Amino acid sequence: MHATDIIAKKRDGGELSREEIEFFVQGYAKGDIPDYQAASWLMAVFLRGMSDRETLDLTMAMARSGDMLDLSDIAPVTVDKHSTGGVGDKVSLIVAPLVAACGLPVAKMTGRGLGFTGGTADKLESIPGYRTDLNDAEFRAQLAKIGIVLTGQSADLAPADRRLYALRDVTGTINAIPLIVSSVMSKKIAAGADAIVLDVKVGNGAFMKTLADAETLAEAMVRLGTHAGRRVVALIADMNQPLGWAVGNALEVKEAITTLHESGPADLREHCLVIAAEMLALGGKAADKSEALALAMDMLSSGDAWQKFRELVEAQGGDVRAIEEPERLPQARLIEPVPAPRSGYLAELNAVEVGSAVVELGGGREQKDDLIDHSVGVVVHYKVGDLVQKGTPLFTVHAGDEAKLTAARERVLAAHTIGDDPVQRLPIFYKRVAE
Ligand code: URA
Repeated sequence: MHATDIIAKKRDGGELSREEIEFFVQGYAKGDIPDYQAASWLMAVFLRGMSDRETLDLTMAMARSGDMLDLSDIAPVTVDKHSTGGVGDKVSLIVAPLVAACGLPVAKMTGRGLGFTGGTADKLESIPGYRTDLNDAEFRAQLAKIGIVLTGQSADLAPADRRLYALRDVTGTINAIPLIVSSVMSKKIAAGADAIVLDVKVGNGAFMKTLADAETLAEAMVRLGTHAGRRVVALIADMNQPLGWAVGNALEVKEAITTLHESGPADLREHCLVIAAEMLALGGKAADKSEALALAMDMLSSGDAWQKFRELVEAQGGDVRAIEEPERLPQARLIEPVPAPRSGYLAELNAVEVGSAVVELGGGREQKDDLIDHSVGVVVHYKVGDLVQKGTPLFTVHAGDEAKLTAARERVLAAHTIGDDPVQRLPIFYKRVAE
């Protein structure tokens, strides 16, 4: 078999066999197939799509490209959640400790930023010392000891996805349904979770721009996970404006900390409680959704979720002082509040523009090996539907230098549309998808 034949077959709209997919995925994971051929293949898949059978074969080949964890000897049931990517999405930082505090083990491999969206592994690395490179043995030992792991994708787990994910980020091949399905589900299947809640984002700040596309993606992932013997539920959530107020790595960790202390933004809190309740119900910790929601709320108000987050940071080598006194987290050199140019109702707060502005500030990657600046970002002060007062801070830019600050200020200002007429608030969730 030759990589070039497989690329050409997909380029011409052919359906790849299981053997061809296996050959390509294993070859790329091992380094036998170079980046330029993988990039070309990704573009062919992006443009031509894949059948359900090809997507399943791709997912399983990616899952099998490394170790497949079996956690049943440590915990009878483990749950995981995964977001398809958004702007200001720090949900895992709150939900994982919240669910683990309820006694349901959470074993999670988190991702890096992708395009204009942030990644939990990058956010966690704003905490000095926090390790996102646990190996298999460390992963298992920590899960057994404290019931929670939030680590990056190790070299041993779904390495094909780790490499393809980074390549997609810089080759314009992110938002193709078969590539997202296989990327998300290969990791989840390899990491051994029994129950999985998928947080599928839709809107301008998501990879799926329409509800119909988000439904197709959610249904495909639920089908595939069920086929692989996992319990899977997907929630389709709004991503037309950032989630919460903060966008940028350390700024989002700070916002997660305030939410764990019960004083974060209302939309973020509600989003987290609903995802946590789904995880608790799916993991058998509550008889129904309302019992699960009450349990999740208790864990926040009792401080147990915060204590579990603290335990997690300590176990993974992070400096606990930096989360107890968040002013110790990385701080940008320049912090500038930008006043609202007029009064009126906020009609739009374009999430993709805010996310892209944060990438340009240095908070995300434009090239595969770029280092990111954890301190930079944007904090918005109004949400769609709010009444804005001229001259009050509309948003605040956290930047490393003047030129980047100016560019971000202009871009984020243009992302806000203020009008005279009242505007309906955006929903938090649109739909739940289950088998
Ligand atoms: N999250 C992933 O893990 N992969 C994608 O392709 C998109 C979001």
